[in-house]
Amino acid sequence: MKRSLRSLFLIAFTLVASATDVNFVARAQAQPAGAKSGKSDDLRAVYATSLEVADGKRVAEASCVRCHGVDGISTTKGVPHIAGQRPAYLHLELRAYQTGVRGEKAMDGVVKYMSDDALVKVAAYYASLDPPQPIAASGAKPAPAKPDPAQAGKAAATGCAGCHGEGGISKTPGMPSLVSFDPKYLVAAMKAYKGGQRKHDMMKSVLGAVGDGDMDNIALYYALQKPARAQTPVTGNPAAGKAAAASCAGCHGNVGVSGNPVTPSLAGQEAQYLAAAMKAYKDGSRSDETMKGLVASLDDGKMKDLAAFYATQQPQAPNVRKPLTTAEWAQRCDRCHGINGNSTDPLAPALAGQRADYLEKVLHDYRTRARKSPQMAAMSDALAEVDIENLAAHYARQKARAVVFVIPQADKEK
Ligand code: HEC
Ligand code: HEC
Ligand code: HEC
Ligand code: HEC
Repeated sequence: MKRSLRSLFLIAFTLVASATDVNFVARAQAQPAGAKSGKSDDLRAVYATSLEVADGKRVAEASCVRCHGVDGISTTKGVPHIAGQRPAYLHLELRAYQTGVRGEKAMDGVVKYMSDDALVKVAAYYASLDPPQPIAASGAKPAPAKPDPAQAGKAAATGCAGCHGEGGISKTPGMPSLVSFDPKYLVAAMKAYKGGQRKHDMMKSVLGAVGDGDMDNIALYYALQKPARAQTPVTGNPAAGKAAAASCAGCHGNVGVSGNPVTPSLAGQEAQYLAAAMKAYKDGSRSDETMKGLVASLDDGKMKDLAAFYATQQPQAPNVRKPLTTAEWAQRCDRCHGINGNSTDPLAPALAGQRADYLEKVLHDYRTRARKSPQMAAMSDALAEVDIENLAAHYARQKARAVVFVIPQADKEK
């Protein structure tokens, strides 16, 4: 009886039909000796006995419950749920607070003078509890996911299509296409209209109500559309234009595809707009010192030819990757954090059912390096603000699976 109690606490995760579970059980069984004896062993909390868990409860009652509760479910903003969290991970984090690797006033003071033995036991205690219910199950209405930036850009650009064409491909002579620009150029152009540096009353009023965030989204949306030439007539002589364009190639590219984000591509642009832009630089109504000098010697006919040459070139998509959706991100996170954030790796935390405010906070901490982790530093750098909010909401809604204590086969037979 005593023996079975002692051996009862090899921990495995019973996530139904997950191949990694088998791995974890196998790994746990392969290492019990080292895990039980080595005092610095990261997995020691995984093998705690029932007596150690009971000791851990006493430690918790003395030092932790005022913030984490006796059930490990937090009711306080910024304080994480720790019930049902992976035991080795809990122990690892407690040591990180103790040594100052993970700096946090609330925690550092509490664990500073605790023995490693106490940390192992209190980790095992909280790990043995039922995990939090996700916010969706508690009846609270989950926050609606924020649309991804490209989708948000599409919505914000609805009113632009009347002049600039569907997908930013102009059908109206004189109206520029907005497709195939680097987002940096488009954002700068919008800001220049809004701030009055680029004088155009109509565009200034159109963009009056468009905020910086929406400008970024709109520019991204257009950059991701399939490029095509403007669908308007071309009147000049493209061959003559090609010869004249030699002096433009250094900045705008041989065929009007610019390699520099702040220099606009000209390939496929609406012809009448191109000619008008050159004229505007020449007469100073559009102020740009570089372009003014370059077009000073061009007459109207040359401008038309240059416009015809560029308008008939094939536009190309700028070098911008489509940002991942929340579902696509979550797939990447799940590779380490387990299916729907139910980690089966003893050293990787479960995210399922965790408080959204806490998840957001620590993702920012990884980004600023206030919290150090090589894996998470790389991951968090790639996340936009909206991704952090959406991923935090996503994991807070997932059903958390309990850690289950099973008797290892080898011990049973003894
Ligand atoms: C004064 C309030 C307070 C007390 C007491 C306290 N904690 Fe915490 N705990 C916090 C806060 C706040 C955080 C989040 C800190 C952060 O963002 O790094 C935290 C984080 C943690 C984490 C990290 C969880 C994770 O998912 O990474 C663990 C583990 C933890 N506490 C365990 C304990 C244990 C065990 C005790 C008792 C020995 C304890 N805490 C006592 C407030 C407290
Ligand atoms: C009523 C017609 C109209 C609407 C609606 C309109 N635009 Fe424009 N837009 C123009 C015209 C005309 C120009 C050329 C102005 C100039 O010569 O500087 C222009 C120029 C631009 C340019 C500069 C392109 C370049 O090649 O430098 C950008 C960027 C732009 N518009 C964005 C937008 C966005 C974003 C919207 C929707 C929020 C929008 N526009 C709505 C007419 C319009
Ligand atoms: C030294 C680099 C450089 C050279 C050479 C150059 N350009 Fe430009 N061009 C620019 C930059 C930068 C802008 C954006 C200026 C602004 O913000 O108004 C621009 C803008 C333009 C535009 C406006 C595009 C739009 O979408 O509004 C046209 C048209 C243009 N250039 C045509 C030409 C032609 C034709 C030549 C050759 C005769 C030429 N450029 C040579 C740098 C250059
Ligand atoms: C390569 C493996 C890996 C990937 C991929 C990964 N993580 Fe992590 N994550 C970890 C490890 C390991 C930790 C523990 C690091 C530590 O000790 O601070 C962690 C910690 C975290 C924490 C802290 C949890 C807590 O309780 O304090 C959050 C939140 C988190 N990851 C979110 C994510 C999200 C969101 C993604 C996807 C965008 C992601 N992770 C992708 C390995 C990974």
